Amino acid sequence: MTSNPPDLRLHGDTFARGELLDFAVNVWPGGHPVPLRRSLEKALREPGYPDQTSAINAIAHRHERSPDEVLLLNGACEGFWLLAHALRPKRAICVHPSFTEPEAAFRAVGADVVHAYRGSEFALDPDAVPTDGDIVVLGNPNNPTGNLDPAHMVEQLARPDRLLIVDESFMEFIPDEDESLASRADIPGLIIVRSITKLWSLAGVRAGYLLASPELVEKLAAQRQPWSVSSPACAALAYCMGDRRYRRRVATMVAEAREELALALERISGVKTWPSVANFLLLEVDDAPEVISQLRDAGIAVRPAHSFPGLSTNHVRVAVRHAVDNQRLARALRKILVDEV
Ligand SMILES: Cc1ncc(COP(=O)(O)O)c(C=O)c1O
Repeated sequence: MTSNPPDLRLHGDTFARGELLDFAVNVWPGGHPVPLRRSLEKALREPGYPDQTSAINAIAHRHERSPDEVLLLNGACEGFWLLAHALRPKRAICVHPSFTEPEAAFRAVGADVVHAYRGSEFALDPDAVPTDGDIVVLGNPNNPTGNLDPAHMVEQLARPDRLLIVDESFMEFIPDEDESLASRADIPGLIIVRSITKLWSLAGVRAGYLLASPELVEKLAAQRQPWSVSSPACAALAYCMGDRRYRRRVATMVAEAREELALALERISGVKTWPSVANFLLLEVDDAPEVISQLRDAGIAVRPAHSFPGLSTNHVRVAVRHAVDNQRLARALRKILVDEV
């Protein structure tokens, strides 16, 4: 089904501007481990152009891929725009509700965009995804629903004659990454897009990468300006790939905070939540625009989720933050929905 898109360029940061406690942006507010900060500072002191070698090798090593299967990105988001502009697909299939930048990028180059919707509890239903198209894109874990699909189901979408983009930007939050396809060089047409901006609190640095066949990596690289990924981003990528301990520690901390927040929200009459494996939760509440506005009055920004195709004005996404902040959100929501009735 082809449909009129809602505002595909809307993102959490639009809602978080000003002096608000930010539950709208999906970035873990944890700061940076000291060695990462040192790597960033060292990169800033370098007078020369960026050298991608260490970052590419570190990514290849982490995912057991060849360096020529790695393309550094100026944030995961750049990957969608680069793919769209370099490949100019005629027919793109976007699995929704999901992050809308891939669709925006495909529309910008004139692609015919087809929506395929997730099934019950937002689980991926491979049978609902058309078998044609030049390119298919889906998120795993998926934003804004927070669910993780089994790798064997995602893999079913691959076809020898089309590309399959799996946006694994939130996979860092899963300690063992069992459902990641990042190491699978054998799946035809598979492109994995990854980000380090979320778990490592680096959204402003813009750092991500994609994994694909050497031929596709070469084709994409040929479409770019030189030095398109900055020295701090290269340094951050090189560092973060090797720091498994910090990654697991944050993933565990986020999981605990998320379960506590989910429990507190579920206890509020009128709030529906969905299970999530990421650093955010999708909620549904009656009259959400009014609730969102009252939360703003209470100094809290959340993300209205109506711009994700398939969701309604009563869907809201909230980030997972540290426990004190999460408790403040739950208290504010309870006050709005229960105490003031
Ligand atoms: C699912 C998903 N993929 C990619 C991105 C972009 O990530 P980056 O900051 O690495 O560009 C976002 C940003 O929110 C996202 O939600």
